[in-house]
Amino acid sequence: VLGWFYVFPAYRLPSDKEIVEEVLGLGEAWKKNQTGIDLYRNLLTECCNPRWMFSVTKENAPIGKVLWYDGEYYYSHTVNNETYSIFVQTTPLKPLKKCAVVGNGGILRHSKCGRDINQADFVMRCNLPPLKKEYLEDVGNKTHLVTANPSIIEKRFQGLFWSRKAFVDYLKAYGSSFIYMPAFSMRPGTDPSLRAYYAITDSPSNLTMLFANPDFLRNVGKFWKARGVHAMRLSTGLFLVSLALGMCDEVTVYGFWPFSIRLDGQPISHHYYDNILPDKWIHTMPEEFVQLWHLHKSGTLRVKVGSCR
Ligand code: CDP
Repeated sequence: VLGWFYVFPAYRLPSDKEIVEEVLGLGEAWKKNQTGIDLYRNLLTECCNPRWMFSVTKENAPIGKVLWYDGEYYYSHTVNNETYSIFVQTTPLKPLKKCAVVGNGGILRHSKCGRDINQADFVMRCNLPPLKKEYLEDVGNKTHLVTANPSIIEKRFQGLFWSRKAFVDYLKAYGSSFIYMPAFSMRPGTDPSLRAYYAITDSPSNLTMLFANPDFLRNVGKFWKARGVHAMRLSTGLFLVSLALGMCDEVTVYGFWPFSIRLDGQPISHHYYDNILPDKWIHTMPEEFVQLWHLHKSGTLRVKVGSCR
């Protein structure tokens, strides 16, 4: 054990206070750096090919293809007639200009960032967040892609075994966006994801279900691991940022601030809508934030942490 410390000097993540001070020190100034943007687009295209590999499609997952779950040690699904029939034909994603990736951080509360977010060409959100009127000014309502964790289907909508109405009604807030579900990441997630697919397609809804490609998730995980993110699994937000960096000319991220104080020192909740804390063993969001902050400082993407007005 001692030898390990000699070879690898102890890696210490800056404390919350140090990060807040560093962010305050730099202020809101930001300068776009096309070289950084091009570099990350190339790096991400090489490792993970986001545009084509982001979701499973009939093209990248034909019948007989073995999908190895990225969240399990040794478990797979072999694409069959039934699963093939519910995959989209090809990637529905186009190269984009201005993208907004909206995390669920409490920093968004009273940020007045809704208008800025709504002005982006493509808005991505995480985990079916509430878009009620009371949050409109702070988080906007435009959505082009929203992720849904299978556990939400189980917990909030009783696994869709009973009424599907509450689920279908709830989804109306997302208009005609893509719903992105990791159906082939963890074994218990597959059935609820398929049920969610049928609930959407059996109802008069304009949403399109996309299933996360486990190869993409695994490769993105490796990409960030090589850059110092040691989490067992990346947060949903970082997967979306990776997609955005591979596809968009300009990326702004909102609601990424996994700290309990605002820049003015006031306490904030974990989410803009509640204060349920994450499981620290699974995600290490502050570690991810440090990466996002590096990208912000190099002009590769913009991290919005203060107020927008
Ligand atoms: O399911 P997960 O814990 O990954 O996400 P969430 O709590 O629904 O929030 C969505 C995303 O926003 C996370 O995946 C993080 O990337 C980001 N987030 C953040 O950076 N700071 C917070 N205080 C809360 C969320």
